[in-house]
Amino acid sequence: MIVKKPELNLKKQGGLKFVKLNERLYTYLSDCRSKTGDKVLDALRAETVRKLPDFAQMQIGRDQGTFMTMLVAATGAKNAIEIGTFTGYSAICIARGLPATGRLLCLDISEEWTNMARKYWAKAGVDQKIELRLGPAVESLEEMGPKPVFDFAFIDAHKPEYDDYYERLLPLMRPQSLILFDNMLWGGRLGKPGPIKHENGRAIDKLNRKLARDPRVESVLLSLGDGIHACRVLPGPGRAG
Ligand SMILES: C[S@@+](CC[C@H](N)C(=O)[O-])C[C@H]1O[C@@H](n2cnc3c(N)ncnc32)[C@H](O)[C@@H]1O
Repeated sequence: MIVKKPELNLKKQGGLKFVKLNERLYTYLSDCRSKTGDKVLDALRAETVRKLPDFAQMQIGRDQGTFMTMLVAATGAKNAIEIGTFTGYSAICIARGLPATGRLLCLDISEEWTNMARKYWAKAGVDQKIELRLGPAVESLEEMGPKPVFDFAFIDAHKPEYDDYYERLLPLMRPQSLILFDNMLWGGRLGKPGPIKHENGRAIDKLNRKLARDPRVESVLLSLGDGIHACRVLPGPGRAG
């Protein structure tokens, strides 16, 4: 297999079209947002790091959280679903973008981790908007039937199951709704020549390529956080609404 030299490709495209981040730049961009110093989100992040140091890295970044709040609000989403809630950071960000009558359904398997989420949802004043369902997400999605219709979905649970979540979610998504998948750059390890050894990386790579060619959605892979693959659901058979 011939591997193209990336610098030749970039020259043809007029140079770098991205900025490599480092800690200084990330801190800078993280500071250049509305409502930095959010007391509830900062306290939740701190408690998660203190009590769950081995898992705290699973939380989305502050910039990603603000972006999701904006996206939910700007698209006028009323019904949202999150698969993979952990201690509730991303759920607060999604719920804050919803109107007062909006609803967010959260799916997760961990009672312990989501107990912390519940505490902070109350502190953030979004607990009335959120319903939490405990159990394996694939089973929860299957039990739902065709009734719920969502305007926004955030997928951030078990990587090898992402495609299963996607296929079960799609019939429940309204045309023009958004589905966001997290960790789709897999820590920067994708795009190398040769087979991917780890199950998670293989599943993510396969899904990135599938989404890019899937006529049911318009898709773009963004270098936000650990990579967000965003999909706009197109009208057609097998979609809700
Ligand atoms: C990356 S964390 C989610 C982080 C969260 N979105 C945040 O920003 O704080 C992944 C979560 O998925 C949950 N999870 C893993 N496998 C699952 C499954 N099969 N069904 C439902 N939830 C699952 C875990 O319990 C964990 O809380």
